[in-house]
Amino acid sequence: MNIPFFTNKPSEESFRYLEGNKPNHIAIIMDGNGRWAQKRGKARVTGHKEGISTVVKIAKAAVKCKVKVLTLYTFSTENWKRPKTEVDTILRLPKEFLHLYLPDLMAHNIRIETIGETEHLPAHTREAIRYAMERTRDNDGLQLNFALNYGGRHEIINAMKKMLADLNGANLSLDELDDQQVSEYLYTAGMPDPDLLIRTGGEKRLSNFLLWQLAYTEFWFTDVLWPDFSEKEFLQAVEEYQQRKRRFGGL
Ligand code: IPE
Ligand code: IPE
Ligand code: MG
Repeated sequence: MNIPFFTNKPSEESFRYLEGNKPNHIAIIMDGNGRWAQKRGKARVTGHKEGISTVVKIAKAAVKCKVKVLTLYTFSTENWKRPKTEVDTILRLPKEFLHLYLPDLMAHNIRIETIGETEHLPAHTREAIRYAMERTRDNDGLQLNFALNYGGRHEIINAMKKMLADLNGANLSLDELDDQQVSEYLYTAGMPDPDLLIRTGGEKRLSNFLLWQLAYTEFWFTDVLWPDFSEKEFLQAVEEYQQRKRRFGGL
């Protein structure tokens, strides 16, 4: 039986770039949930709930594109400033997301990981993540990283503290410290730096995301709000990335 690999739109044609200059690691600032809801006269939390179906759509699109790592900015260290009811809702979403989609993620051979200060999340959030990481541990397809209670400055401070402890304990010498070595102290240790950063929702800023890792990343912004973001726009970003000339300071 001849089963086409891609049964839905966008068609196979849209994936023609599968070969060639592919991004290995894509990072996304999933912004615009609150505005999406407000535009519809609904509470902001409705937008967050709607946003979780976009997560699974985009994760599957990343699998099709053979991306190795997809890092999603889910909750920042600054997002605690929001009203408690909104924070509580956001921090319940990982459990809801996994309840709905874990079988689908398993079927797509996706491994779940997190970056950030996860130890300071509520117990129910930590438990949901721990379970998902455990269940998906042996999947060797896409690595799906959720940045949860993540802040770039916090990550760097944390790394500095660990480095200083290792220097004092003579597990590290000052001469050894270079780019590579510093990267090993970050939450993203062992991962390639993002090739492409996507931000939805119209803002053009980093909001404390992956400050070290984005040094030479290509940026792609869209006004589309996260709940409306689709495979089509994701592919457009990847295709535009493929046209870019990365120079890393050279010629
Ligand atoms: C992004 O959507 C999700 C989180 C920050 C958790 P927002 O909640 O920031 O939505 P806007 O930017 O207010 O529309
Ligand atoms: C960035 O969005 C954080 C996440 C998407 C999790 P924010 O909505 O918090 O960023 P600012 O406040 O507009 O910079
Ligand atoms: Mg926002």
